[in-house]
Amino acid sequence: MLFGRQTYVERRDVLRHRVEHGLIVLFGNNESPVNYPSNGYKFRQDSSFLYYFGLQRDGLVGVIDADSGEEWLIGNDIDIEDIVWFGSVDSVADMADMAGVAKSAPMSRLESLVRDATDAGREVHFLPPYRHDLMIQLMDLTGIHPRDQKAKASLRLIHAVIEQRIVKTPEEITEIERACAIGYEMHTTAMRMCRPGVPEQEIAGRISGIASSRGCIVSFPSILSMHGEIMHGYPSPRPLEAGRLMLCDCGAETNENYCSDNTRTTPVSGHFDARQRDIYQLVVDAHDHAYEMARPGVKWWDVHFAAARVITEGMKSLGLMRGNTDDALAAGAHALFFPHGLGHAMGMDVHDMEGLGQTYVGFDDEVQPRLDQFGTNALRFGRRLQEGYVMTDEPGIYFIPALIDEWRANRHCADFLNFDRIDEYRDFGGIRIEDDLLITADGARYLGEKMIPYHVDDLEAFINE
Ligand code: GLY
Ligand code: MN
Ligand code: MN
Repeated sequence: MLFGRQTYVERRDVLRHRVEHGLIVLFGNNESPVNYPSNGYKFRQDSSFLYYFGLQRDGLVGVIDADSGEEWLIGNDIDIEDIVWFGSVDSVADMADMAGVAKSAPMSRLESLVRDATDAGREVHFLPPYRHDLMIQLMDLTGIHPRDQKAKASLRLIHAVIEQRIVKTPEEITEIERACAIGYEMHTTAMRMCRPGVPEQEIAGRISGIASSRGCIVSFPSILSMHGEIMHGYPSPRPLEAGRLMLCDCGAETNENYCSDNTRTTPVSGHFDARQRDIYQLVVDAHDHAYEMARPGVKWWDVHFAAARVITEGMKSLGLMRGNTDDALAAGAHALFFPHGLGHAMGMDVHDMEGLGQTYVGFDDEVQPRLDQFGTNALRFGRRLQEGYVMTDEPGIYFIPALIDEWRANRHCADFLNFDRIDEYRDFGGIRIEDDLLITADGARYLGEKMIPYHVDDLEAFINE
């Protein structure tokens, strides 16, 4: 277990008091097969289960009676066949003891616990499931069909978990910084390998290898492409070409499942050309401006639009946009170039708790998502920051030919966009710069002992060392 028993006991105690009534059922994950049952993906525990119980074994369920405080760790002990193939593991009773849970029971007990609660008219709280095996288990337990399970998940439990997990403790920050140190190595290796003729996949493979060799996985499938304008541009076998930009967005997830998430954009030839430098500098300015603004009490929505303003003003000065900046921002014209949000919460999930519902994680009664406007609808977070939040700061500028053509054909935001000039950038690609921010008592600080170089001079000096 990553932290001491008391940490998990206290976390569950806070959760139970916030939920107040009913039976809380937290499912751990099962093994997941790749192409036949015994050939599995690397096991990944559910983050909420891990947060409250700290146990990395598959096939466990935690149950907390919010009224009485009674707790159970449910799971089946492995049999002698499993011991032959996988070695001995702790019994469920021993694991319960490690996590400070008083009772343990086999999986068959879960059914009677849930039935007794339901028969007594008590609420059974569960989180929205995202794995199909657990959807089937939940259907067997509750009779709720998988298509209805997201809607019937407990809002009370979802909010209680989010409010607890979103504020990172100093010991969690230490774990995230361990992930950042590995992320630093991954990114600086990719930047050093970035040369004409080197295949994208070779670099991506090397950075995955760095994560594996530290006992880690990548925190999401690495994005590494000369086509940075494709948001999820996965590495191809194509060799890097002189004159282009390589966008690399990747991170590490430690053995204990805390993440890092950074992006760097590197000129394949070792130096930015004038056009690339101008656009790159705008992204640097937006990134640094967000960092300056981020502090407790500030709405992330406002930080996002402040970064969008920097981009809009800059694009105007380059002749790519025009008109009144406030009106352009209100119309969403900047989203032609910056179609995603400034950043998201990060922790045990790289998009922290996204499975619980992005609207619940990133918005509240005061700041509501705006789903009807392209670009703004991709903002994953809008509400006020608090000390202990970890956010990514990841502005970008992209030239997406299909989007340019569509907007031009529809005359969408045509008052603010100089399409003739924009057309000259069709082959540009995209630029993003991303770092992880901890919101502190009076501002913010970037996580990781060393910043991955990103200011133009630092970056060029680094890759040409
Ligand atoms: N592409 C994952 C992220 O940076 O959010
Ligand atoms: Mn990223
Ligand atoms: Mn990110």
